[in-house]
Amino acid sequence: MSKSTRLITINPTSIDDALVTEAGAALADGKLVAIPTETVYGLGCNGLDPDAIAGVFEAKGRPASDPLIVHVDGVAMAETLIEGGLPAVAARLAAAFWPGPLTMVLPKTQIVPDAITSSGPTVGVRCPAHPVARALITASGVPVAAPSANRFGRISPTTAAHVVEELGDRIDLIVDAGPADYGVESTVVTFEGDDAVILRHGALTAEALAAHVTVREVEEAETEARAAAPGHDIRHYSPRTPAIATTTTPGDAAEGDIVYVAYEDREISLPSGWSFFSLGNRSDLELVARDLYANLRRLDAAAHDLIVIELAGAGGIGRAIDDRLIRAASGNVTTTAAALAEAVAEMRQAKPPSAPRRR
Ligand code: TXA
Ligand code: MG
Repeated sequence: MSKSTRLITINPTSIDDALVTEAGAALADGKLVAIPTETVYGLGCNGLDPDAIAGVFEAKGRPASDPLIVHVDGVAMAETLIEGGLPAVAARLAAAFWPGPLTMVLPKTQIVPDAITSSGPTVGVRCPAHPVARALITASGVPVAAPSANRFGRISPTTAAHVVEELGDRIDLIVDAGPADYGVESTVVTFEGDDAVILRHGALTAEALAAHVTVREVEEAETEARAAAPGHDIRHYSPRTPAIATTTTPGDAAEGDIVYVAYEDREISLPSGWSFFSLGNRSDLELVARDLYANLRRLDAAAHDLIVIELAGAGGIGRAIDDRLIRAASGNVTTTAAALAEAVAEMRQAKPPSAPRRR
């Protein structure tokens, strides 16, 4: 697949109506359009057009078994997608958090194509806070299906330049509106009765949700809700460089071209040959989240032999950060200095990575 991809810039604080009309028409017409949102850039298409949806799966290399979320410009459009309309608990969360980084998985109506939902009975719906995203949806006149605008399994894009790296020449149009505000994806919830079950931690914190609804983790939910998390493959958001996530500092691990990725709030002494890379200060995890994916891209480009990443180990947005870091490490988490040293030694011997495990 090779296309000539056009790039346009829309200033979110002074939106150019003619450009919005043009990009909205492209969406309505079945084109693949990368759109800015407050979380990460999305690869948007007409969510009612099965051919356009197939194009999104193809451009990303995403398996058909991993459903897309649909973006709406408000509750009225959401209600066209949700069987019986928003249930009371979802309406409450919509009132509190929409527009914003909350995706709600609910029973779908007939108009939602099977390609969106991987033939499942539910659809994920989100009303983005980004003014350009909402303007584009309104201009298109249709719900806009949009996964993150990266190749499948890779790091989500938080700038238009990242989208070019991931999908340049595979899509029709990229709308640049500057860097994303949150830098991590929306929080995805489903419902069990009146409780919200978090399928993916994200930009909206569990604590913020808990002020409005009883919140449960997917691990403690009924199997039905657990089965609803199909895309939550442990290998996701992955740099190409092998990575280990850790809750401890390295102690005396083997030397090598290894980068230790942590925070700048304390001194860490590193084994010989190791370098240090800061994700920012742990006292400002919002900022760490905003820069996280750009930093993972930088680390990948530096082509070290191994990346060792310290988890944030915090609540709030720290939950989303650690979730992405653990996935970047393909689930390989060490919790003692000895286990970390052992994992580093294993990776240094270039053994095929062992099965994801926590030790
Ligand atoms: O912030 C975001 O959510 C970004 C921006 C572009 O809006 N979008 C995004 O989409 O992250 P994506 O496709 O990369 O992640 C959506 C997640 C996937 O893990 C998918 O498996 C899950 O939501 N999902 C989508 N529909 C679902 C459904 N019906 N049931 C359960 N999970 C679903
Ligand atoms: Mg994604």
